[in-house]
Amino acid sequence: MEGEIYLNKHLNQTYVDDNILNLEDGLKLKIEESLGSKLLEVEEIIHDFTNSNVSIMKDLMNHILSSRGKRLRPVLLLLSGSFQPANDYVLIRAAAAVELIHTASLIHDDIIDESYERRGSPSLNARWGNRPAVLAGDFLFARAFELISLCQDFQLNKSFMKAIGTMCEGEIEQNVFAFNVNISEEQYLKNIYRKTAVLMEACCGEGARLSRLEGKDVSKLQAYGRNLGLAFQITDDILDIIGKSEFTGKPIGKDLQEGIITLPLIYVLEDITWGPRLKEVIENRAFSSENIDFLFQPSCIDGPLARAMDKAASFVREARESLAGFENTHARQILEEFADFVLQRDH
Ligand code: IPE
Ligand code: IPE
Ligand code: MG
Ligand code: MG
Repeated sequence: MEGEIYLNKHLNQTYVDDNILNLEDGLKLKIEESLGSKLLEVEEIIHDFTNSNVSIMKDLMNHILSSRGKRLRPVLLLLSGSFQPANDYVLIRAAAAVELIHTASLIHDDIIDESYERRGSPSLNARWGNRPAVLAGDFLFARAFELISLCQDFQLNKSFMKAIGTMCEGEIEQNVFAFNVNISEEQYLKNIYRKTAVLMEACCGEGARLSRLEGKDVSKLQAYGRNLGLAFQITDDILDIIGKSEFTGKPIGKDLQEGIITLPLIYVLEDITWGPRLKEVIENRAFSSENIDFLFQPSCIDGPLARAMDKAASFVREARESLAGFENTHARQILEEFADFVLQRDH
């Protein structure tokens, strides 16, 4: 394998460099050459399928290509598809398609959240406004469908389309619960399963199915993806409170401003002292920096953050347990390290 791919120049994440998959300074994984070369092909396909002859669409797509994300979902699909030989043509196109789907969902999410930074760069809505951004997201979805249709695999088509529908349901229902201080932990988990975990579940399930694993192993990898996704969204929500935007590449504190009550805040609301104060701030939409600083002082937020982290850790444990019956291959080791990465990540 030749050359390097930079995931995100702002965050200095090297994606594949001499077969080292590097998701952050602390996590460098030696990957087998076959995975490295598949990832390079995924990048090439993403590049080809975001091509447009229309100048403004070209500009939007160049902007998207110029600041890459972590590529977690294609990696999950390829790893889940590497326990047995698979049709690489299909596997690689499915992996590229899922990254396009994910990117489209982020573009639309930034419009919905009125968020102006993504992957360390201005979001499309910040730079071009909502109308071009909606269409750029639609364009990526369309290009993803085109890629999936090349695979001529009915089940692949069905799994991804179902996942996209569920993601839309998750985002829309999350907004129904915005500013609702009575949101339960159960409802929160339902929302994050739909908006985030379902796609990771589909990535792992489809990778497994495309490599012809038995039904019970497909289910185990689906469970891995689902639990990883739940943990991933919980740590995303924690990072929205205590992260650093120079690492996350997106603004901090957006969730509360948008009225999205995430797990740490659900736990604050349960607190006899701090709960009523947070409730008042949310109900009056009084998100001044004084109020936020007051609520995010350690005596209020540290306990709930630790409790949310424990919840994420319990999903990570479940994810790891789903891998227990698999042969101790390189793919399994990386999937296990991925699960741990979710708890340590700062971006
Ligand atoms: C962001 O996903 C959206 C969530 C599900 C929290 P990622 O953190 O995987 O985004 P990129 O692709 O690396 O930018
Ligand atoms: C995840 O939710 C969005 C999608 C799954 C599309 P968030 O709104 O928390 O994602 P970020 O924080 O903007 O990346
Ligand atoms: Mg968002
Ligand atoms: Mg978030």
